[in-house]
Amino acid sequence: MGLLDDKVAIITGSGRGIGKAIAKRFVSEGCKVTINDIDVDVCNATAEEINAEGGEAIAVKADVTNPAEVKNMVDKTIEAFGTVHILVNNAGITKDAMIHKMEDKLFKFILDVNLKGTILCTQAVLECMKEQKYGKIVNTASVTGLMGNIGQSNYAAAKGGVIGFTKGIARELALDGIRANCYGPGFIETRLTAVKEEGSDRSGLGIPKGIRDTAIATIPFGAGQPSDVASVALFFASPLSDYVTGEVISISGGQLV
Ligand SMILES: NC(=O)c1ccc[n+]([C@@H]2O[C@H](COP(=O)([O-])OP(=O)(O)OC[C@H]3O[C@@H](n4cnc5c(N)ncnc54)[C@H](O)[C@@H]3O)[C@@H](O)[C@H]2O)c1
Repeated sequence: MGLLDDKVAIITGSGRGIGKAIAKRFVSEGCKVTINDIDVDVCNATAEEINAEGGEAIAVKADVTNPAEVKNMVDKTIEAFGTVHILVNNAGITKDAMIHKMEDKLFKFILDVNLKGTILCTQAVLECMKEQKYGKIVNTASVTGLMGNIGQSNYAAAKGGVIGFTKGIARELALDGIRANCYGPGFIETRLTAVKEEGSDRSGLGIPKGIRDTAIATIPFGAGQPSDVASVALFFASPLSDYVTGEVISISGGQLV
């Protein structure tokens, strides 16, 4: 018996990193999963890995900011598994700049992927979840959305928006049996937070070693792993949290204490 037996989940951005850990954790609890990513190679590879290990997964490449691709992702899931019970809005990205240097397109890109993508994917599963009077929406914010971070005003605005959005839909959708919750990871070891060459700029993925070491040193339990986030995602996706909605949990090893 698993916590997610006979359940179907879509996890966006699950080709690698935190999303992949969530997908594998859900599968270990009996869930069927749709692996989604904008990167087709990791998307297919993760679904293949799960199927080879005896789980049930399909891969659907989609950009979460593209309504037609998002609709196709939901349609393909229903075609394969009959329904959708759980949506984990995990796809997200950073691209940093100090506010006085931040171009409009950089602000828009980060708001689009992190916030608009979350909204579009949520809208796309609603018909199905409302019809079955059951659904779990699990959104990904960030500690940065709660306390800010230098060079990440775009990301803080997007993730703060995800928190507000979660509370809004939690109120709206309760009558349909749909719960919506949100977590904010702190410093989790993935390619987003991997070591980047010292002295290189902050506009791409990764963090220069000096800044990274300092950041980790300020966290009581140090850096976290994708599996730490997967545990909280499982709680929000499972019946263990059926009386919980509109909440935000920080997964940050004490960073906010
Ligand atoms: N790693 C951390 O420390 C940390 C901290 C706070 C929040 N987060 C959030 O956790 C989530 C996962 O981050 P991660 O660290 O695993 O990053 P990651 O880069 O390892 O994985 C993110 C995945 O999302 C995919 N993706 C990006 N844009 C997409 C799009 N438009 N459509 C579909 N897929 C897309 C990427 O291809 C990638 O495979 C993100 O929302 C991120 O903002 C991470």
